[in-house]
Amino acid sequence: MRKKKIIALLLLLVTALVPACAPKAIDYEQVSPNDKIVIRFSHVVGEDTPKGQAARLFAKLMKERTNGKVEVQVFSNGSLYKDSEEMDALSEGHVQMIAPALSKLSSLVPELGVFDLPYLYPNLDGYHKVFDGNVGKVMSNSLAKQNMVSLGFWDSGFKQFTSNVRPIQNPLDLAGTTIRIMPSAVLDDQFNLMQVKPVEMNFNDVYLALAQGRIHGQENTVSNIYTKRFYKVQKYMTISDHGYLGYIVIIDKRFWNQLPANFQKIMIETMNEVTEWERNQAVKIEQDKLNAIYNCSCIEIERLSVQEKAKWKQFYQPLYQKMEQRLGRAFFEELGL
Ligand code: LMR
Repeated sequence: MRKKKIIALLLLLVTALVPACAPKAIDYEQVSPNDKIVIRFSHVVGEDTPKGQAARLFAKLMKERTNGKVEVQVFSNGSLYKDSEEMDALSEGHVQMIAPALSKLSSLVPELGVFDLPYLYPNLDGYHKVFDGNVGKVMSNSLAKQNMVSLGFWDSGFKQFTSNVRPIQNPLDLAGTTIRIMPSAVLDDQFNLMQVKPVEMNFNDVYLALAQGRIHGQENTVSNIYTKRFYKVQKYMTISDHGYLGYIVIIDKRFWNQLPANFQKIMIETMNEVTEWERNQAVKIEQDKLNAIYNCSCIEIERLSVQEKAKWKQFYQPLYQKMEQRLGRAFFEELGL
């Protein structure tokens, strides 16, 4: 009888202790909507791209690290706003975060146009060094004057050419064709120099324009060419690595200023972590998607050699001269040029 009593007592003790020791289940739904800060993050690319994956990871980590108090809602594929609408959506408060290509910000901050110069740096580290240094700060300050707080510089990678007219081995091989570009004075000049007709177009309109033959080709990174199926409606692709495509992750400044300091801190730390992850992931995704494109055997693929790339870079020198005249020698020196 005494033994039974002791066992019952022990059982009671264990039941009382277990909930205290067990890891607490986080019930995010229990955060009252009034306490929740919702951040709408809009971008135009697919989910399975460096930007798409990193945006989701950022949302997940923010939720975990704020116990569900900050909810980042990610809208991919331009499902909320097209590239040409994103900036207005941000300034009008319809979304709070965007991550546009640097090219698309170059009309607001002309210095950003320099990163559209073909073959600016031979590898991604060259770009990262500049973004993470003084030049990056100067760019961020310029954006801050326009109510945008820069949280990080993300990569998509190097751009490649595709066309349905002919293989591309030399800078004038695309002459006479029509090519989609992002809005950027440097990209416009780049294609004019190649005797190509550049047409500005929203990213999510490109597939149909290629499929219908309204444009002959485009330039983009492998992850975008793959996830948007451009390679399915193009005959030729050249791995030229001729231009850089990267993003600035931006949050609306007025919204940012209203965030409690502890959430700002978590956000900055999380973004730094995600940025490092994103840059590594971009390289992996590119390799992955390039293999998938090779494996489909549905597009003819050329690759420029180091010597050929040097020849192309020489061809593009007038763009460098024009940009240097515009932005000044001192800025070019800061870029190590
Ligand atoms: C494009 O418009 O081609 C790219 O900027 C899309 C993107 O965000 O990568």
